[in-house]
Amino acid sequence: MLVILKRDNEEVNEQAAHLIAGAIKKKPSLVLGLATGNTMVGLYKHLVRLYRAGSLDFSQVTTFNLDEYLGLPASHPQSFHHFMQENFFRHVNVPPRNIHIPDGSVRGDYDAYCVSYEHSIRFAGGIDLQLLGIGRNGHIGFNEPTSSLASRTRLKVLSRETLDDNSKFFGPGEESPRCAITMGIGTILEARKILLLATGDSKAAAVAKSIEGPITCAVSASALQLHPDVTFLLDELAGAQLTQRDYYHRVLEMTALLTPNRLS
Ligand code: GLP
Repeated sequence: MLVILKRDNEEVNEQAAHLIAGAIKKKPSLVLGLATGNTMVGLYKHLVRLYRAGSLDFSQVTTFNLDEYLGLPASHPQSFHHFMQENFFRHVNVPPRNIHIPDGSVRGDYDAYCVSYEHSIRFAGGIDLQLLGIGRNGHIGFNEPTSSLASRTRLKVLSRETLDDNSKFFGPGEESPRCAITMGIGTILEARKILLLATGDSKAAAVAKSIEGPITCAVSASALQLHPDVTFLLDELAGAQLTQRDYYHRVLEMTALLTPNRLS
């Protein structure tokens, strides 16, 4: 596990864009797992900038988003489809046929739909690089506390904390979705490489538990400790409750010296 501590949000976005751009340059047909949320907005801006400057090409990239609210059509302004379209896809050249986001308007046999999403990931060769944010309760994707660490893509009931966090995005009187379709923790752990971004003090407790706490279903992101190639990219506020900050800085220095391609 690599923990990179940056000064602020802007530096986190810059470094994340650098890592993703590096991965695409190394493998133009990269299978990229994408995430939504405020944390990702700045990163997508950076990636769009690199694309417009002609230094990044997404024409062979395939993407899989982590999750989507159940019951929201793609056109709903709070859907993750809409978020991805507005913040990223409409500005870059990922071929539409290569874009995969769970379908929140699916009805009926949810299990069959979720199995088909997993199948599409496998058919694409598996996810090379999975981007993650983190919820205040430690969720990744919408894997709420007590999610099985072996879970696969499935329907998930949202926790009270997540409902509260999300309600501000919905209009007065508009009910926010109570369920979502999300890749499972087991699905996420199969990605070859994982990059988790967290900024701001509201994430500090979840980040510290995920990195330094025990592996537990009470903090879904703690399952990342089981993965051999995870990078946590944090700003000072999000990393504030970590007790081993000095060690992480030293590990980073040695990584830059001994295995610099982990950072490019
Ligand atoms: C949602 C998403 C997560 C994301 C989280 C954090 O719950 N399902 O994938 O990590 O929000 O969002 P934000 O970056 O807005 O704090």
